[in-house]
Amino acid sequence: MSQSSAPAHEQMSQFKQHSNAMLIGGYTLSELSTLLGKDVFYAYDRAVINQQVARFRAAVPARIKLHYAIKANPYWPVLQHLKPLVDGFDVASQKEMLLALQAGMAAHDISFAGPGKTDAELTAAICAGVTLNVESEGELQRLCQLGQQLKRRPQVALRVNPAFELKASGMKMAGGAKPFGIDEEQVLLLLAKIADMPVNLRGFHIFCGSQNLKPEALIEAHQLTFALAAKLVAASPYKPDLINLGGGFGIPYFAGEKRLDLTEVSASLKHLLQQYDDALSDIELVIELGRFLVAEAGVYACKVVDKKVSRGTTYLVCNGGLHHHLANSGNFGQVIRKNYPVAIGNKLSSDTTEQVTIVGPLCTPLDILADRVELPKAGVGDWVVVYQSGAYGPTASPQDFLGHPAVVEILV
Ligand SMILES: Cc1ncc(COP(=O)(O)O)c(C=O)c1O
Repeated sequence: MSQSSAPAHEQMSQFKQHSNAMLIGGYTLSELSTLLGKDVFYAYDRAVINQQVARFRAAVPARIKLHYAIKANPYWPVLQHLKPLVDGFDVASQKEMLLALQAGMAAHDISFAGPGKTDAELTAAICAGVTLNVESEGELQRLCQLGQQLKRRPQVALRVNPAFELKASGMKMAGGAKPFGIDEEQVLLLLAKIADMPVNLRGFHIFCGSQNLKPEALIEAHQLTFALAAKLVAASPYKPDLINLGGGFGIPYFAGEKRLDLTEVSASLKHLLQQYDDALSDIELVIELGRFLVAEAGVYACKVVDKKVSRGTTYLVCNGGLHHHLANSGNFGQVIRKNYPVAIGNKLSSDTTEQVTIVGPLCTPLDILADRVELPKAGVGDWVVVYQSGAYGPTASPQDFLGHPAVVEILV
Protein backbone atom coordinates (compact mmCIF):
# COMPACT_ATOMS: atom_id res chain seq x y z
CA MET A 1 0.00 0.00 0.00
CA SER A 2 1.25 3.50 -0.83
CA GLN A 3 2.00 5.62 2.29
CA SER A 4 0.88 9.05 1.00
CA SER A 5 -2.37 10.29 -0.53
CA ALA A 6 -2.42 13.41 -2.78
CA PRO A 7 0.71 14.09 -4.84
CA ALA A 8 3.16 16.09 -2.74
CA HIS A 9 3.59 18.92 -5.24
CA GLU A 10 -0.15 19.69 -4.99
CA GLN A 11 0.07 20.06 -1.20
CA MET A 12 3.44 21.82 -1.17
CA SER A 13 2.22 25.01 -2.74
CA GLN A 14 5.20 27.14 -1.69
CA PHE A 15 7.14 26.62 -4.95
CA LYS A 16 6.24 27.73 -8.46
CA GLN A 17 6.40 25.35 -11.38
CA HIS A 18 6.95 25.68 -15.10
CA SER A 19 6.36 23.07 -17.82
CA ASN A 20 5.72 20.38 -15.20
CA ALA A 21 9.07 21.11 -13.47
CA MET A 22 9.51 22.65 -10.05
CA LEU A 23 11.21 26.00 -9.64
CA ILE A 24 13.22 27.07 -6.62
CA GLY A 25 13.85 30.80 -6.60
CA GLY A 26 12.90 30.78 -10.29
CA TYR A 27 15.42 28.07 -11.27
CA THR A 28 14.76 24.52 -12.41
CA LEU A 29 16.71 21.77 -10.68
CA SER A 30 18.86 21.28 -13.78
CA GLU A 31 19.72 24.97 -13.78
CA LEU A 32 20.63 24.85 -10.11
CA SER A 33 22.73 21.78 -10.81
CA THR A 34 24.56 23.67 -13.56
CA LEU A 35 25.11 26.66 -11.26
CA LEU A 36 26.54 24.44 -8.56
CA GLY A 37 28.38 21.94 -10.74
CA LYS A 38 26.80 19.20 -8.62
CA ASP A 39 23.84 16.87 -9.00
CA VAL A 40 22.91 16.44 -5.36
CA PHE A 41 22.17 19.51 -3.28
CA TYR A 42 19.94 21.42 -0.90
CA ALA A 43 18.25 24.49 -2.38
CA TYR A 44 16.56 27.16 -0.27
CA ASP A 45 14.09 29.70 -1.63
CA ARG A 46 14.49 33.11 0.01
CA ALA A 47 10.94 34.16 -0.94
CA VAL A 48 9.56 31.28 1.15
CA ILE A 49 11.69 32.31 4.14
CA ASN A 50 10.30 35.83 3.74
CA GLN A 51 6.75 34.45 3.67
CA GLN A 52 7.29 32.54 6.91
CA VAL A 53 8.71 35.59 8.68
CA ALA A 54 5.70 37.55 7.38
CA ARG A 55 3.31 34.86 8.70
CA PHE A 56 4.87 35.23 12.14
CA ARG A 57 4.80 39.03 12.07
CA ALA A 58 1.16 39.09 10.92
CA ALA A 59 0.05 36.79 13.73
CA VAL A 60 2.24 37.69 16.66
CA PRO A 61 1.93 41.16 18.23
CA ALA A 62 4.94 43.41 17.62
CA ARG A 63 5.53 43.53 21.39
CA ILE A 64 6.92 40.00 21.02
CA LYS A 65 10.25 39.78 19.22
CA LEU A 66 11.35 37.03 16.86
CA HIS A 67 14.61 35.16 17.34
CA TYR A 68 15.97 32.62 14.88
CA ALA A 69 17.45 29.40 16.33
CA ILE A 70 20.48 28.96 14.10
CA LYS A 71 20.67 25.21 14.72
CA ALA A 72 17.79 24.71 12.29
CA ASN A 73 19.90 25.94 9.37
CA PRO A 74 23.25 27.65 9.93
CA TYR A 75 24.08 27.99 6.20
CA TRP A 76 25.85 31.33 5.99
CA PRO A 77 23.73 32.87 3.17
CA VAL A 78 20.58 31.87 5.10
CA LEU A 79 21.89 33.58 8.23
CA GLN A 80 22.77 36.71 6.31
CA HIS A 81 19.34 36.68 4.72
CA LEU A 82 17.57 36.29 8.06
CA LYS A 83 19.71 38.80 9.98
CA PRO A 84 17.70 41.91 8.99
CA LEU A 85 14.38 40.05 9.16
CA VAL A 86 14.57 38.87 12.77
CA ASP A 87 15.34 40.55 16.11
CA GLY A 88 17.93 38.12 17.40
CA PHE A 89 19.68 34.79 17.01
CA ASP A 90 19.70 31.85 19.42
CA VAL A 91 22.88 29.78 19.30
CA ALA A 92 23.79 26.38 20.73
CA SER A 93 27.59 26.32 20.45
CA GLN A 94 30.63 28.57 20.25
CA LYS A 95 30.77 28.05 16.49
CA GLU A 96 27.15 29.18 16.11
CA MET A 97 27.88 32.14 18.39
CA LEU A 98 30.73 33.21 16.12
CA LEU A 99 28.46 32.89 13.08
CA ALA A 100 25.81 35.02 14.77
CA LEU A 101 28.31 37.73 15.71
CA GLN A 102 29.89 37.74 12.26
CA ALA A 103 26.47 37.99 10.62
CA GLY A 104 26.31 41.32 12.43
CA MET A 105 23.83 40.46 15.16
CA ALA A 106 24.41 42.57 18.30
CA ALA A 107 25.65 40.54 21.27
CA HIS A 108 22.69 41.86 23.27
CA ASP A 109 20.36 40.04 20.85
CA ILE A 110 22.18 36.70 20.89
CA SER A 111 21.33 34.02 23.42
CA PHE A 112 23.45 30.91 23.96
CA ALA A 113 21.56 27.83 25.16
CA GLY A 114 22.42 24.18 25.63
CA PRO A 115 23.56 21.80 28.35
CA GLY A 116 27.21 20.97 28.99
CA LYS A 117 28.77 24.30 28.04
CA THR A 118 32.51 24.06 28.65
CA ASP A 119 34.55 26.69 30.47
CA ALA A 120 36.07 27.69 27.12
CA GLU A 121 32.57 28.25 25.64
CA LEU A 122 31.38 30.15 28.70
CA THR A 123 34.51 32.33 28.63
CA ALA A 124 34.02 33.12 24.95
CA ALA A 125 30.37 34.01 25.56
CA ILE A 126 31.25 36.27 28.52
CA CYS A 127 33.87 38.03 26.39
CA ALA A 128 31.37 38.51 23.58
CA GLY A 129 28.70 39.78 25.97
CA VAL A 130 25.99 37.45 24.69
CA THR A 131 23.23 36.26 27.01
CA LEU A 132 23.89 32.82 28.42
CA ASN A 133 20.83 30.67 28.99
CA VAL A 134 22.00 28.92 32.15
CA GLU A 135 21.13 25.24 32.26
CA SER A 136 22.09 24.31 35.85
CA GLU A 137 23.17 25.75 39.18
CA GLY A 138 26.67 24.31 38.58
CA GLU A 139 26.90 26.20 35.29
CA LEU A 140 25.88 29.40 37.10
CA GLN A 141 28.64 28.90 39.66
CA ARG A 142 31.23 28.33 36.94
CA LEU A 143 30.01 31.47 35.20
CA CYS A 144 30.48 33.48 38.39
CA GLN A 145 34.07 32.27 38.76
CA LEU A 146 34.93 32.81 35.10
CA GLY A 147 33.35 36.27 35.12
CA GLN A 148 35.43 37.27 38.13
CA GLN A 149 38.60 36.01 36.48
CA LEU A 150 37.75 38.02 33.38
CA LYS A 151 36.54 41.01 35.41
CA ARG A 152 33.33 40.92 33.35
CA ARG A 153 29.75 40.46 34.58
CA PRO A 154 28.18 37.57 32.66
CA GLN A 155 24.78 38.31 31.14
CA VAL A 156 22.52 35.45 32.18
CA ALA A 157 19.00 34.21 31.67
CA LEU A 158 18.02 31.26 33.81
CA ARG A 159 16.63 28.52 31.60
CA VAL A 160 13.66 27.13 33.46
CA ASN A 161 12.44 23.56 33.24
CA PRO A 162 8.79 24.21 34.07
CA ALA A 163 6.54 21.74 35.80
CA PHE A 164 4.35 21.70 32.66
CA GLU A 165 5.09 20.44 29.14
CA LEU A 166 4.16 21.48 25.61
CA LYS A 167 1.66 18.77 24.76
CA ALA A 168 1.69 17.01 21.37
CA SER A 169 5.19 18.20 20.47
CA GLY A 170 7.61 16.46 18.13
CA MET A 171 10.23 17.00 20.82
CA LYS A 172 9.39 17.74 24.45
CA MET A 173 12.05 19.75 26.21
CA ALA A 174 10.39 20.59 29.51
CA GLY A 175 8.28 19.06 32.25
CA GLY A 176 9.49 16.12 34.35
CA ALA A 177 13.19 15.31 34.61
CA LYS A 178 15.19 17.00 31.85
CA PRO A 179 18.83 17.77 31.11
CA PHE A 180 17.67 21.20 29.91
CA GLY A 181 17.21 24.11 32.27
CA ILE A 182 16.80 24.34 36.02
CA ASP A 183 13.65 22.91 37.59
CA GLU A 184 11.10 25.64 38.28
CA GLU A 185 11.11 24.97 42.04
CA GLN A 186 14.93 25.22 42.17
CA VAL A 187 14.90 28.48 40.20
CA LEU A 188 12.78 30.09 42.90
CA LEU A 189 15.37 29.06 45.53
CA LEU A 190 18.19 30.32 43.31
CA LEU A 191 16.54 33.72 42.88
CA ALA A 192 16.80 34.26 46.63
CA LYS A 193 20.62 34.03 46.27
CA ILE A 194 21.29 35.57 42.88
CA ALA A 195 21.44 39.20 44.03
CA ASP A 196 24.76 38.38 45.73
CA MET A 197 26.23 36.69 42.68
CA PRO A 198 28.54 38.55 40.25
CA VAL A 199 26.21 38.15 37.26
CA ASN A 200 23.62 40.32 35.57
CA LEU A 201 20.30 38.48 35.63
CA ARG A 202 18.71 39.46 32.32
CA GLY A 203 15.73 37.18 32.81
CA PHE A 204 14.38 33.76 31.97
CA HIS A 205 14.28 31.27 29.12
CA ILE A 206 11.21 29.03 29.18
CA PHE A 207 11.44 26.65 26.21
CA CYS A 208 9.08 23.69 26.33
CA GLY A 209 9.30 21.90 23.01
CA SER A 210 9.43 22.00 19.26
CA GLN A 211 7.52 20.88 16.15
CA ASN A 212 3.98 21.52 17.38
CA LEU A 213 1.05 21.78 14.97
CA LYS A 214 -1.73 22.04 17.56
CA PRO A 215 -2.86 25.62 18.29
CA GLU A 216 -4.58 24.52 21.49
CA ALA A 217 -1.34 22.99 22.84
CA LEU A 218 0.64 26.15 22.04
CA ILE A 219 -2.07 28.33 23.61
CA GLU A 220 -2.06 26.28 26.80
CA ALA A 221 1.76 26.42 26.98
CA HIS A 222 1.69 30.21 26.40
CA GLN A 223 -0.84 30.66 29.21
CA LEU A 224 1.29 28.63 31.60
CA THR A 225 4.49 30.32 30.42
CA PHE A 226 3.14 33.86 30.96
CA ALA A 227 1.92 32.89 34.43
CA LEU A 228 5.29 31.34 35.31
CA ALA A 229 7.16 34.36 33.90
CA ALA A 230 5.12 36.72 36.08
CA LYS A 231 5.82 34.56 39.13
CA LEU A 232 9.57 34.52 38.40
CA VAL A 233 9.72 38.26 37.75
CA ALA A 234 7.94 38.89 41.06
CA ALA A 235 10.46 36.64 42.84
CA SER A 236 13.51 38.28 41.22
CA PRO A 237 15.71 40.54 43.37
CA TYR A 238 15.70 43.22 40.66
CA LYS A 239 13.59 43.67 37.56
CA PRO A 240 14.76 41.47 34.67
CA ASP A 241 14.60 42.80 31.11
CA LEU A 242 14.15 39.61 29.08
CA ILE A 243 11.69 36.73 28.96
CA ASN A 244 12.11 34.11 26.27
CA LEU A 245 8.66 32.55 25.90
CA GLY A 246 9.96 29.52 23.94
CA GLY A 247 8.93 28.50 20.44
CA GLY A 248 7.66 25.24 19.08
CA PHE A 249 5.76 26.44 15.98
CA GLY A 250 5.81 23.37 13.73
CA ILE A 251 5.56 22.70 10.02
CA PRO A 252 3.68 19.86 8.28
CA TYR A 253 5.93 16.99 7.27
CA PHE A 254 3.71 13.97 6.89
CA ALA A 255 0.50 12.94 5.13
CA GLY A 256 -2.53 14.28 6.96
CA GLU A 257 -0.64 17.13 8.71
CA LYS A 258 -1.79 20.69 8.05
CA ARG A 259 0.03 24.02 8.27
CA LEU A 260 -0.21 25.51 11.75
CA ASP A 261 -3.16 27.90 11.92
CA LEU A 262 -1.96 30.89 13.93
CA THR A 263 -5.33 32.66 14.18
CA GLU A 264 -6.20 31.47 17.67
CA VAL A 265 -2.59 31.54 18.85
CA SER A 266 -2.52 35.18 17.81
CA ALA A 267 -5.73 36.06 19.67
CA SER A 268 -4.53 34.28 22.78
CA LEU A 269 -1.14 36.08 22.74
CA LYS A 270 -2.91 39.45 22.43
CA HIS A 271 -5.08 38.56 25.39
CA LEU A 272 -2.09 37.39 27.47
CA LEU A 273 -0.17 40.59 26.72
CA GLN A 274 -3.09 42.59 28.12
CA GLN A 275 -3.52 40.32 31.11
CA TYR A 276 0.17 40.52 32.07
CA ASP A 277 0.73 44.10 30.96
CA ASP A 278 1.68 45.29 34.45
CA ALA A 279 3.58 42.21 35.57
CA LEU A 280 5.77 42.13 32.46
CA SER A 281 6.00 45.84 31.69
CA ASP A 282 9.30 47.04 30.17
CA ILE A 283 10.46 43.47 29.69
CA GLU A 284 11.54 42.30 26.24
CA LEU A 285 9.49 39.28 25.21
CA VAL A 286 10.89 36.83 22.67
CA ILE A 287 9.69 33.80 20.75
CA GLU A 288 12.49 31.70 19.29
CA LEU A 289 11.88 29.61 16.18
CA GLY A 290 14.00 27.45 13.95
CA ARG A 291 12.25 25.19 11.50
CA PHE A 292 9.11 27.33 11.16
CA LEU A 293 11.20 30.00 9.42
CA VAL A 294 13.31 27.83 7.11
CA ALA A 295 12.09 24.24 6.75
CA GLU A 296 9.43 24.85 4.11
CA ALA A 297 11.86 26.96 2.08
CA GLY A 298 14.20 24.06 1.40
CA VAL A 299 14.30 21.01 -0.81
CA TYR A 300 16.82 18.23 -1.02
CA ALA A 301 17.41 17.21 -4.62
CA CYS A 302 19.25 14.17 -5.90
CA LYS A 303 19.34 12.12 -9.09
CA VAL A 304 18.19 8.62 -9.91
CA VAL A 305 21.28 6.58 -10.82
CA ASP A 306 19.70 3.13 -11.03
CA LYS A 307 16.26 1.55 -11.25
CA LYS A 308 15.61 -2.05 -10.35
CA VAL A 309 12.82 -4.43 -9.45
CA SER A 310 13.25 -6.83 -6.57
CA ARG A 311 10.49 -9.37 -5.94
CA GLY A 312 7.77 -6.99 -6.99
CA THR A 313 9.17 -3.78 -5.45
CA THR A 314 10.44 -1.12 -7.83
CA TYR A 315 13.42 0.78 -6.47
CA LEU A 316 14.74 4.13 -7.58
CA VAL A 317 18.33 4.23 -6.37
CA CYS A 318 19.70 7.77 -5.97
CA ASN A 319 23.02 9.50 -5.47
CA GLY A 320 21.73 11.09 -2.25
CA GLY A 321 20.36 9.68 0.97
CA LEU A 322 20.61 9.35 4.72
CA HIS A 323 24.18 10.68 4.93
CA HIS A 324 22.90 14.06 3.68
CA HIS A 325 19.39 13.97 5.11
CA LEU A 326 19.17 11.93 8.27
CA ALA A 327 15.82 13.44 9.31
CA ASN A 328 14.14 12.26 6.10
CA SER A 329 15.39 8.72 6.71
CA GLY A 330 13.37 8.70 9.93
CA ASN A 331 16.38 8.44 12.20
CA PHE A 332 16.25 11.92 13.76
CA GLY A 333 13.51 11.69 16.36
CA GLN A 334 10.80 9.67 14.59
CA VAL A 335 9.44 6.62 16.39
CA ILE A 336 7.85 5.06 13.31
CA ARG A 337 9.33 6.08 9.97
CA LYS A 338 7.02 8.18 7.81
CA ASN A 339 7.68 9.65 4.38
CA TYR A 340 8.49 13.30 3.92
CA PRO A 341 6.65 14.64 0.87
CA VAL A 342 8.57 13.77 -2.29
CA ALA A 343 8.23 14.43 -6.00
CA ILE A 344 9.97 13.85 -9.29
CA GLY A 345 11.17 17.43 -9.64
CA ASN A 346 11.44 17.49 -13.44
CA LYS A 347 8.15 15.60 -13.95
CA LEU A 348 5.71 16.77 -11.31
CA SER A 349 2.65 15.10 -12.77
CA SER A 350 2.05 12.44 -15.34
CA ASP A 351 -0.73 10.16 -16.50
CA THR A 352 1.65 7.27 -15.99
CA THR A 353 2.50 6.73 -12.37
CA GLU A 354 3.97 3.81 -10.47
CA GLN A 355 4.63 2.83 -6.89
CA VAL A 356 8.31 3.06 -6.03
CA THR A 357 10.57 2.86 -3.03
CA ILE A 358 13.35 5.44 -3.25
CA VAL A 359 16.67 4.61 -1.65
CA GLY A 360 20.12 6.13 -1.38
CA PRO A 361 23.58 4.74 -2.15
CA LEU A 362 24.43 3.59 1.37
CA CYS A 363 24.79 -0.11 2.05
CA THR A 364 22.26 -0.12 4.88
CA PRO A 365 18.49 -0.77 4.89
CA LEU A 366 18.11 2.52 6.83
CA ASP A 367 18.92 4.54 3.71
CA ILE A 368 15.34 5.17 2.59
CA LEU A 369 14.31 8.41 0.91
CA ALA A 370 10.66 7.38 0.45
CA ASP A 371 8.91 4.09 1.04
CA ARG A 372 6.17 2.90 -1.35
CA VAL A 373 5.12 6.19 -2.91
CA GLU A 374 3.02 6.63 -6.03
CA LEU A 375 4.93 8.96 -8.37
CA PRO A 376 5.15 9.76 -12.07
CA LYS A 377 7.13 7.03 -13.79
CA ALA A 378 10.80 7.98 -13.44
CA GLY A 379 14.14 6.56 -14.43
CA VAL A 380 17.87 7.14 -14.45
CA GLY A 381 18.68 10.86 -14.71
CA ASP A 382 15.40 12.12 -13.23
CA TRP A 383 15.36 14.33 -10.14
CA VAL A 384 14.03 13.12 -6.80
CA VAL A 385 13.04 15.99 -4.56
CA VAL A 386 12.33 15.88 -0.83
CA TYR A 387 10.23 18.82 0.37
CA GLN A 388 10.25 20.39 3.87
CA SER A 389 14.01 20.00 3.99
CA GLY A 390 15.23 23.50 4.89
CA ALA A 391 15.85 22.65 8.56
CA TYR A 392 18.00 20.02 10.24
CA GLY A 393 19.54 18.99 6.92
CA PRO A 394 23.29 18.80 6.24
CA THR A 395 24.39 19.76 9.75
CA ALA A 396 22.09 17.17 11.33
CA SER A 397 23.35 14.36 9.07
CA PRO A 398 26.30 11.93 9.24
CA GLN A 399 27.96 13.22 6.08
CA ASP A 400 31.15 11.18 6.46
CA PHE A 401 29.31 7.88 6.86
CA LEU A 402 30.64 5.55 4.12
CA GLY A 403 32.69 8.32 2.58
CA HIS A 404 30.35 9.53 -0.16
CA PRO A 405 30.77 13.14 -1.36
CA ALA A 406 29.44 15.88 0.94
CA VAL A 407 26.30 17.76 -0.09
CA VAL A 408 26.31 21.37 -1.27
CA GLU A 409 23.74 24.10 -0.60
CA ILE A 410 22.39 27.14 -2.39
CA LEU A 411 20.06 29.99 -1.44
CA VAL A 412 18.22 31.53 -4.36
C1 LIG B 1 16.40 25.89 22.97
C2 LIG B 1 15.89 25.63 21.60
N1 LIG B 1 15.47 26.67 20.86
C3 LIG B 1 15.00 26.50 19.62
C4 LIG B 1 14.92 25.25 19.05
C5 LIG B 1 14.43 25.15 17.65
O1 LIG B 1 13.33 24.33 17.50
P1 LIG B 1 12.50 24.38 16.14
O2 LIG B 1 13.47 24.24 15.02
O3 LIG B 1 11.57 23.25 16.22
O4 LIG B 1 11.80 25.71 16.09
C6 LIG B 1 15.32 24.14 19.79
C7 LIG B 1 15.23 22.79 19.20
O5 LIG B 1 15.71 21.81 19.70
C8 LIG B 1 15.83 24.34 21.10
O6 LIG B 1 16.27 23.31 21.83
